Amino acid sequence: MGLLKPSTIIQFLILFSLLHIPALAAKQPYIVYLGSHAHGPKITEADLDRVADSHYELLSSFLGSKEKAKESIFLSYKRNINGFAAFLEEEEAAQIAKHPGVVSVFLNQGRKLHTTHSWNFMMLEDQKGFPIRNSIWRKAKFGKDTIIANLDTGVWPTSKSFDDKGYGPIPSRWKGTCQKSKDGFACNRKLIGARYFSEGYEAWGRKLNSTERTARDHSGHGSHTLSTAGGNFVHGASVLGVGNGTAKGGSPRARVAAYKVCWPPVDGGECFDADIMAAFDMAIHDGVDVISMSVGGKPAGYWEDGMSIGAFHAAKKGIVVVASAGNSGPNAGSVTNVSPWMITVAASTLDREFQAFVELKNGLRLKGTSLSPALRAKKFYPLINGAQAKEANASIDDAILCKTGTLDPTKVKGKILACLRGENARVEKGLNAARAGAVGMILCNDDLSGNGVLADAHFLPASHLTYEDGQSLLQYINTTKNPQATLLPPIATFGSKPAPSMASFSSTGPNTVTPEILKPDITAPGVSIIAAYSEAVSPTGLEFDKRRFPFNVESGTSMSCPHVAGVVGLLRTIHRDWSPAAIRSAIVTTARTRDNTGNSAKTALKQKASPFNYGNGHIRPNRAMDPGLVYDLGTNDYLNFLCSLGYNKTQIQALNDKPHKCPAKNVTVLDFNYPSVTAPNLSGSVTVTRTVKNVGQPGTYVVKVHEPVGVSVSVEPKILEFKHHGEEKSFRITLKDRGYGLKGYHFGVFVWTDGKHYVRSPIVVQTVTKE
Ligand SMILES: *[C@@H]1O[C@H](CO)[C@@H](O)[C@H](O)[C@H]1NC(C)=O
Ligand SMILES: *[C@@H]1O[C@H](CO)[C@@H](O)[C@H](O)[C@H]1NC(C)=O
Ligand SMILES: *[C@@H]1O[C@H](CO)[C@@H](O)[C@H](O)[C@H]1NC(C)=O
Ligand SMILES: *[C@@H]1O[C@H](CO)[C@@H](O)[C@H](O)[C@H]1NC(C)=O
Ligand SMILES: *[C@@H]1O[C@H](CO)[C@@H](O)[C@H](O)[C@H]1NC(C)=O
Ligand SMILES: *[C@@H]1O[C@H](CO)[C@@H](O)[C@H](O)[C@H]1NC(C)=O
Ligand SMILES: *[C@@H]1O[C@H](CO)[C@@H](O)[C@H](O)[C@H]1NC(C)=O
Repeated sequence: MGLLKPSTIIQFLILFSLLHIPALAAKQPYIVYLGSHAHGPKITEADLDRVADSHYELLSSFLGSKEKAKESIFLSYKRNINGFAAFLEEEEAAQIAKHPGVVSVFLNQGRKLHTTHSWNFMMLEDQKGFPIRNSIWRKAKFGKDTIIANLDTGVWPTSKSFDDKGYGPIPSRWKGTCQKSKDGFACNRKLIGARYFSEGYEAWGRKLNSTERTARDHSGHGSHTLSTAGGNFVHGASVLGVGNGTAKGGSPRARVAAYKVCWPPVDGGECFDADIMAAFDMAIHDGVDVISMSVGGKPAGYWEDGMSIGAFHAAKKGIVVVASAGNSGPNAGSVTNVSPWMITVAASTLDREFQAFVELKNGLRLKGTSLSPALRAKKFYPLINGAQAKEANASIDDAILCKTGTLDPTKVKGKILACLRGENARVEKGLNAARAGAVGMILCNDDLSGNGVLADAHFLPASHLTYEDGQSLLQYINTTKNPQATLLPPIATFGSKPAPSMASFSSTGPNTVTPEILKPDITAPGVSIIAAYSEAVSPTGLEFDKRRFPFNVESGTSMSCPHVAGVVGLLRTIHRDWSPAAIRSAIVTTARTRDNTGNSAKTALKQKASPFNYGNGHIRPNRAMDPGLVYDLGTNDYLNFLCSLGYNKTQIQALNDKPHKCPAKNVTVLDFNYPSVTAPNLSGSVTVTRTVKNVGQPGTYVVKVHEPVGVSVSVEPKILEFKHHGEEKSFRITLKDRGYGLKGYHFGVFVWTDGKHYVRSPIVVQTVTKE
């Protein structure tokens, strides 16, 4: 994903330049967000008409007439979200934003997609692939009848992952539909719904034709993510015969629904806010339990972000929203989807590897990874690097990266070509090598990617090496007269150590929108994940590649997000009465921060990973079903959170369907009942409060603390006694700067335990250094 097809860009530019209507020239698609509706329990057609009318009414007071308002509005949100999308001039948008009751007005922006042994690694099945006896899978009956929605590129409906053999009638609470299209797209008792939303995408000028208007997945991304969350057990799933095993989602017996909001990339993105909001509005109405979204843009204010708005309305209705943290790591502050009413997921490795060894003529063997075809003849071939393969008019910097049009076929033909990672897509480097006549490609990590290697279904035989091994290879090329190499066919291996470690691409904290809220929340497998794919596209996504695979390997927080959504589906089946925040708390406070060597989990650069990489840690689904205590939150807490951030009272009022009064005493955001404590600006000392709810047996919990460097931590009381299920108890944590004058963030942890449960929360502190 993330590749811009030149043809679509050109088409986009042409369509745009044809819009020579002066009156429209300055108009752009905006979203006018009005908060919540006050509908009764049953929404009627008359209600919907009344809402649409109120939108025309509001806009006509700015544009002068109802006709103009009707012309300019292209989407109305009528069921859960209140608002509309319309073509407006900048000045008009600014005027509307000042109107009482308008929460926000923002440009309809584009977001991007964040591009099966994983369940064994998470202790749901044994080495033979049988579900473990006391696992959450068995307890939750594999997520039976939980409804999981995916907002993505649609779905390949005839994939075996979505076959409905053995499924009973669709749960009666389902109100969704299977939207008709010309391509014969059909739903079934497993894939119970599909809809597509394109008005926001088309508002920027790229019109879809009649064959493109479908929920069918023409990209592969949506089928991959949806099957990871809720796909069936499918035996004999593999990529080119490697990794052969049983594919399945986290909730294999769930019902699933696809909401297509992402389309072929254009300049502004792939998935647009106006469509994302429309999809949320319908998914909430349709009766889904979980919404998975492997999409994101730059972190933005809560009400200038369609995903944040949609997730807020979903959480109000008890629907859990899981979103990807982004693939812009490891840069500090790169984490996106940071709303406190979402679960934000980072990506890490599994203990499975797709090993593809590179063997050099001098006897050196380098362990790479790949899911690409094997060499035709197993023998040594001449080995060159991109710089040596440079086309006369290309720059060395571009040729090293094997960019398009930089390689000279007369130099490459019949050889193995080494390419440096970075800038253009990994599979595109492979395609360029193949087109120049290479027999194989070796992808060498740059220093920033470190140890992070990814299995890809490259177009030609290939292997991906770590930075260190890549340097050894390049040095061998530099210092050898006739360098030669061969590539061994990829094989799947299990039990590799250390695992998990953070993926090099996984976006990291601190949270740049509200630094007091720790994001990401959790990490899950997102490297070299095999899942269902679209048969309308090649595994590399490149047009030149004519191969079609029912399953494909992908990496990204896009892949880790649906792993968590699948687990949420299981928890929803077991605990129907838990709030979305309770489910998140159960998942994060039972997470693990060590790897399978017993040491602290590492980053791709072999450094100790921190809560900014993984939040509370790596998911452990079996523990999450019985967390002992949870940090709960409801709509009132979210509204008070906004009060503490200083949001305008009329805005907060609009967000709620009932009157809301901010607490008389100004609450601090530090007291927001999140399952972690983050003090980004500690000066002297601060005391924060938290409340835990007993969701297990009566019991006595004691607290254990590991202090961050330079900060003393005291908890009062130190013992919490719960006499019954559902009881709530509060405690205070005082953080005190020891005055060492240390710069940067430091990390600690506090754990409530009754000897059986361990309710773990990170402490994240940055002290204000005095000059
Ligand atoms: C909140 O914002 C609205 C619209 O911008 C404005 O009319 C109102 O006076 C503001 N209210 C407060 C309490 O600041
Ligand atoms: C619709 O657009 C797609 C993608 O640009 C193209 O492949 C297809 O031929 C078009 N179909 C029609 C009926 O125009
Ligand atoms: C995968 O394994 C199954 C049995 O374990 C076997 O029947 C099937 O042929 C294998 N598929 C591939 C592509 O190797
Ligand atoms: C170099 O020239 C060839 C044609 O001679 C062209 O195809 C290629 O795109 C050019 N490369 C660059 C980097 O300008
Ligand atoms: C290989 O040689 C090139 C050109 O002299 C140099 O830039 C590069 O650093 C060398 N790489 C290694 C790994 O020695
Ligand atoms: C509450 O505190 C926030 C942040 O310190 C501030 O912006 C806001 O104005 C305060 N609200 C009231 C009602 O004092
Ligand atoms: C940090 O705290 C100091 C003093 O308490 C205050 O002046 C400053 O604005 C705060 N900075 C942030 C980023 O909150």
